[in-house]
Amino acid sequence: RRLWLIVPAAGQGRRMGADRPKQYLELAGRPILARTLARLHRAFPEARLCLCLDPDDAWFDPRWVPFADWRRTPGGAERVDSVSGALAAIASEADVDDLVLVHDVARPCVTVDDLRRLRDAALAAPAGAILAAPVADTMKRDDGRGRIRATEPRDGLWHALTPQGFGYGLLCRALETARAQGVAITDEASAVEALGLAPRLVSGRRDNLKVTHPDDLGLAGWILAAQDE
Ligand code: C5P
Repeated sequence: RRLWLIVPAAGQGRRMGADRPKQYLELAGRPILARTLARLHRAFPEARLCLCLDPDDAWFDPRWVPFADWRRTPGGAERVDSVSGALAAIASEADVDDLVLVHDVARPCVTVDDLRRLRDAALAAPAGAILAAPVADTMKRDDGRGRIRATEPRDGLWHALTPQGFGYGLLCRALETARAQGVAITDEASAVEALGLAPRLVSGRRDNLKVTHPDDLGLAGWILAAQDE
């Protein structure tokens, strides 16, 4: 089974409020995109990479890609469209049994150890696996007007992180079915769940944060320095 990496990197990152898409902001002296790809490459130097980029992206520099085998695939309107585009782009090369790991470009702090543990779990689990972290805070549901309507039991609640790993054939089928049924999905696992399958939760580090808001950048820089990878 070959290993494919799909890195959706076609978002605009509007919540960041920056002058460029967030994956091109500097994190400890290098663009976030370069840092994320470097981590993936250290864990899986032989993998084949699909990098989903906006066709109009004017910031990307191919020198940031450390992989020997990689292709640029056109991003879509939503994250799921970007991932589907990458799956379609490799249809003639990939086997149904190949393993596909999807990892957000905006998660540069993922560790090599977590990446390999997730890969191993996804290889062993028929419905695939995702990195996830147990919820630590008490969870509140609002009433739509800024007041608390309910306290949700946090037992058994997890944050869904990336990578998320599935067989190529399974992931294609899941995303096609979700599209046909009009199910809105924000991660790959939810499309697989909609097929009635149960992907495995792999406990990952809580510092695998998704750089989303301006103050995340400083936090991510601190995490990278503390990890010393
Ligand atoms: O905006 P958010 O952080 O939730 O996006 C998650 C990931 O999906 C990012 O890596 C972003 O670049 C990617 N994305 C994409 N195509 C889109 C929207 C988001 O590849 N249309």
